[in-house]
Amino acid sequence: MRDRYCVIGNPIGHSKSPAIHAAFALQTGQDLVYERCLAPLDGFDATVGALVAAGCKGANVTVPFKLAAAALCGTLSARADAAGAVNTLTFADGQIRGDNTDGAGLVRDIGVNAGFALGGKRVLLLGAGGAARGAILPLLGEAPRELVIANRSRASADALVARFAGPGRLLSACEFVDLDGPFDLVVNATSASLAGAMPPLPAAIFTPHTLALDMMYGNQPTPFMAFASGCGAIARDGLGMLVEQAAEAFAQWRGVRPETATILERMRSNSL
Ligand code: ATR
Repeated sequence: MRDRYCVIGNPIGHSKSPAIHAAFALQTGQDLVYERCLAPLDGFDATVGALVAAGCKGANVTVPFKLAAAALCGTLSARADAAGAVNTLTFADGQIRGDNTDGAGLVRDIGVNAGFALGGKRVLLLGAGGAARGAILPLLGEAPRELVIANRSRASADALVARFAGPGRLLSACEFVDLDGPFDLVVNATSASLAGAMPPLPAAIFTPHTLALDMMYGNQPTPFMAFASGCGAIARDGLGMLVEQAAEAFAQWRGVRPETATILERMRSNSL
């Protein structure tokens, strides 16, 4: 029997994770099956229980179950604990272990795929929900000069600053209207793109050297990407982050890190 993995979400039909993991498995010679798993909105725990009982080895978790996954795990990695959310489950020895590879995937996409060195840079993170929270520690780990968190509701951004403040960390919160540019990197971690919207941003936060990365991706540039490009910035979608978070999960499960550049290239040319 081949080892089984899956991605759990609702909806899940659109997920690119099965194609990515199948390509990783082929490339690394790992014999495994990776499927989609639709969990009922009120049935995440039961779905995981059934997967464990069926001998599944692990699962990725996507919208809207990342918080429920964190609550279900017996043990959490430090970064999953900091994020308060889990996107990677490992089932072993009767235990459910949770990790969050999203932030590491983001940082790797920025540093390796986009070739952007974060050290000493001025960074703006848009949003203060689960996606933003998971990105903070990995971003701070790259020693930016400053990290500003801007959110529609100021209180949530303030709460993140209070949680992640520490010696040597220049971390602050503001509302969109108070944004004072320019920034070297702007990461859109709001869910606005899902609704075809974007936060109200001043054009002055962008320069021709600014990397403007949306965690979302689609067939068309998101409104945030279109706006950033219109302001002269370098726009990037979340496809690279998606591939990198998957590689990180795959490496954990299988003990071998897949090569990602060709997979990302194939996804961009729609051949995967
Ligand atoms: P996720 O897990 O994707 O981060 P979430 O935890 O619900 O989802 O957080 C959504 C984030 O997107 C929040 O920061 C939210 O702002 P509020 O805290 O003010 O609600 C932000 N967001 C959603 N729609 C937005 C919009 N149209 N404009 C700006 N921010 C938006």
